[in-house]
Amino acid sequence: MIHVQNLTKDYGDRRAIDGISFHISEGEIVGFLGPNGAGKTTTIRILTCYMPATSGTATVGGHDVFTESMAVRRIIGYLPENVPIYPQMRVREYLHFRGKLHGLDRSARQAAIRRVAELCWLGDFIDRPIYQLSKGMRQRVGLADALLHDPKVLILDEPTVGLDPTQIRETRNLIKELAKRHTVMLSSHILPEVEATCQRTIIIAGGRIAASGSPDELKERIRGGSRLIVEMTGPAPEVTSAIESITGVKNVQATSSNGWNRLIVETTRERDPREDIFRVAANRNWTLRELRPEVASLEEFFIQITAQQATGQRAAGRGREVA
Ligand SMILES: Nc1ncnc2c1ncn2[C@@H]1O[C@H](COP(=O)(O)OP(=O)(O)O)[C@@H](O)[C@H]1O
Ligand SMILES: [Mg+2]
Repeated sequence: MIHVQNLTKDYGDRRAIDGISFHISEGEIVGFLGPNGAGKTTTIRILTCYMPATSGTATVGGHDVFTESMAVRRIIGYLPENVPIYPQMRVREYLHFRGKLHGLDRSARQAAIRRVAELCWLGDFIDRPIYQLSKGMRQRVGLADALLHDPKVLILDEPTVGLDPTQIRETRNLIKELAKRHTVMLSSHILPEVEATCQRTIIIAGGRIAASGSPDELKERIRGGSRLIVEMTGPAPEVTSAIESITGVKNVQATSSNGWNRLIVETTRERDPREDIFRVAANRNWTLRELRPEVASLEEFFIQITAQQATGQRAAGRGREVA
């Protein structure tokens, strides 16, 4: 549904995104995760036809964002980072105004407004002036606006920034609800945000794609060539040397207490030695009561990536001096 190939954007001599490629299939709900300044908004603004890229291609629903922007805008609902809303207007008035921009006639607008008001739980707020609404309510009005023309694709730029915890939960539930009928791409600089809402995450840092996959796949990747926790009985030196001689094992650290050996087994990326560990235990008649990968933390991975981005940028001499 969204295809991005080698997309690059320069602001003057500052490269904001650097040859990024990814795709999002119909029906997916994908998190676009990255620290501040990673290039999320830049990418989103190109996809939503608000500005051109310097090079590369992007299509949405098969339409090129550069040459077929009208067609792209028809199938995209976009919630910008800062919802531009007119404080003096009433919500209903604002939605009529936005509906006109989409070319909907009066009765189509009325039907559309009824539909989005229900979807986004606008309730009684619909006849209030916008300046009276909380940040969370305004965000819902922004979503209602994005949904007016019943787009296939929703692109949401940091949809929960500035909301309190209750509003964050409500907004997440709403997004999950919307994801049943729409393809959703949402950006965030907060890992738990995408973990809570998305099936798949694309991590962007320093204008490049750092990783992509489901939370489980990402954890697998981080763990790749990492460590296993093993607990078994048997004479400690023999257990250690038996495990060490298995192909795919790099290193074993053992501690023993009450007849149990607890082993931290470092493995290579190429081969998972878990089945062989089980067989060694069975052949020697050593009881195995635990054999599991050490739990990888996505949080740590994300912090690493963020740190790499910061040092990378200093090294490249384009640190974030404030203009
Ligand atoms: N209009 C602009 N002019 C110059 N530099 C910009 C502009 N917008 C963004 N940038 C720079 O491009 C990089 C990516 O910004 P942005 O896409 O807003 O990141 P994110 O949304 O991930 O925080 C940052 O280094 C930012 O300072
Ligand atoms: Mg942004």
